[in-house]
Amino acid sequence: MPMMDPRLEQTDKSFWHGFTNFYDTHLPHRIEGKILEFGVFKGNSIRWLLAKFPYALIHGADILPAQPEWPLDSRVTYHEVDQDEEEQVKSLLEKIGQGLRLLIEDGSHFPRHQSRCLRLGLDALEPGGTYVLEDIQTSHPAHSQYADEFGSAVGQTSLSVLLAFEHLKRRGEALSPSRLAVLGRGSHFTTSDIEKLFAQIASIDVYKRATLPSKCWKCGSSNFDYHSYRCECGVDLMNEADSMTVVIKKA
Ligand SMILES: C[S@@+](CC[C@H](N)C(=O)[O-])C[C@H]1O[C@@H](n2cnc3c(N)ncnc32)[C@H](O)[C@@H]1O
Repeated sequence: MPMMDPRLEQTDKSFWHGFTNFYDTHLPHRIEGKILEFGVFKGNSIRWLLAKFPYALIHGADILPAQPEWPLDSRVTYHEVDQDEEEQVKSLLEKIGQGLRLLIEDGSHFPRHQSRCLRLGLDALEPGGTYVLEDIQTSHPAHSQYADEFGSAVGQTSLSVLLAFEHLKRRGEALSPSRLAVLGRGSHFTTSDIEKLFAQIASIDVYKRATLPSKCWKCGSSNFDYHSYRCECGVDLMNEADSMTVVIKKA
């Protein structure tokens, strides 16, 4: 197994979720245009993007103002944006303008924010561009963020819609009027959003971690109680709704 650069190991995309190997296969190998990531946190994924895509211009968006620990580089621009505000997301995408080749959504993880950014972000992405909806497990019914939004009701989310699309596309099925009526029912996407998204998407690849993380997201330990699937600090290592990401190619 190849050794990981220790600087890149600092992002939970790598040590907890195991997304980075999947991305090595499914993300473009070279980007000369623009990249946008929602969710900067400590700046580690911006460092990862700087190293992985040395010819790209990188935009980081977060509800926080720029933090002292975020990497400064002539190729990086930060934006203060609240994903809960439709107009703020729209105007950020307008400001970034043409040439958006990769959008990674790793922000609040609220299901309604994931759906908003997918709807607006796919529109902004260039044809042939790549959209990554990271931590989409928060839109799974077993996740607390899903319960926070929908209670015990069944919700229409980016996860339910994208899994349906992947299913239909894998089977070579068109979006029939009856499927459209079912998929368009809910609060995140209208029927016309669903139709448009289905047409915009060329392919969908889904990843869900099936192995133990390298180390705990909470305490950093790799001392695991293997039989109980827990870290020594008590964190559940193999939750049903954990470590899922989706890579979408725009038609
Ligand atoms: C999971 S962290 C990002 C991790 C980072 N991408 C990485 O891999 O190292 C989520 C980030 O989303 C930001 N965030 C939370 N709510 C937000 C909102 N409503 N709009 C925009 N960003 C938000 C948080 O401030 C936090 O920095």
